Amino acid sequence: MREIAYAKLNLALEVRGREADGYHSLDTLFAFAEAGDLLDAAPAEALSLEITGPFAGALAAEPDNLVLRAARMLRDLYAVREGAALTLDKRLPVAAGLGGGSADAAAALRLLSRLWRIDAGEGDLLALAARLGADVPACFLSRTVRGTGRGDVLHPAPPEHRGAPVLIVNPGVPLSTAEVFRRWDGRRGGGNDLEPAAIALVPAIAEVLDALRAGPAARLVRMSGSGASCFALYAAEGERDAASAQIASAHPAWWRLASRLR
Ligand code: C5P
Repeated sequence: MREIAYAKLNLALEVRGREADGYHSLDTLFAFAEAGDLLDAAPAEALSLEITGPFAGALAAEPDNLVLRAARMLRDLYAVREGAALTLDKRLPVAAGLGGGSADAAAALRLLSRLWRIDAGEGDLLALAARLGADVPACFLSRTVRGTGRGDVLHPAPPEHRGAPVLIVNPGVPLSTAEVFRRWDGRRGGGNDLEPAAIALVPAIAEVLDALRAGPAARLVRMSGSGASCFALYAAEGERDAASAQIASAHPAWWRLASRLR
């Protein structure tokens, strides 16, 4: 059995304030690309996780790996007696503002609730997801949805960009979400209020945004989450692919993903 851990994008992200617990209240519009990490599961007695793929090296199979934490939480809560042999094909860069670990954990919940035939409603699984991280409930749904609270209080949103060709670009510098939120100083920023703080930490983000804006006319160019990934939405695949080719030749070291919004 397989689930895709779809790449998460924030089409807009407004930071409303810093809460007493250090978390921030947000108003954000989540959307998801068709591409992502791949999580496979085979029946097994014990729980295990193997990590492969281009970004496997950035993720040691440490004990607090979010995929294993999600699997253990689900197994314990529903008193499951089987295990699962999990393989994560890590195709998305780590600490990149694309959901990463959150999308992987959400994919694990979807995959293992199927493999273990767990009789849980969507609401139960969303509550479990929220315990794993602020973005995990949105990643569990992996469709356009608005998030308030920490990003975990979800509201329906019209999928106005569904099917839109998208180019995602990352300058290859990992960025800690917690650090970007700590740097946030109340400034508003270009459709994503974390942008000024993220650019202060990784100036290359401004170059990525400039490169996306300099290419074929995009409907929207923005940083995702806490960065450093940025994305552009296009009216047609040809424009996206032309933008991707331009960036590939001007900045061969940058990571690129051409996909569509689901
Ligand atoms: O929830 P998650 O573990 O993905 O969040 C990572 C870090 O990002 C948190 O530890 C916190 O520092 C920061 N964060 C925040 N406000 C949010 C979401 C995340 O300050 N709404």
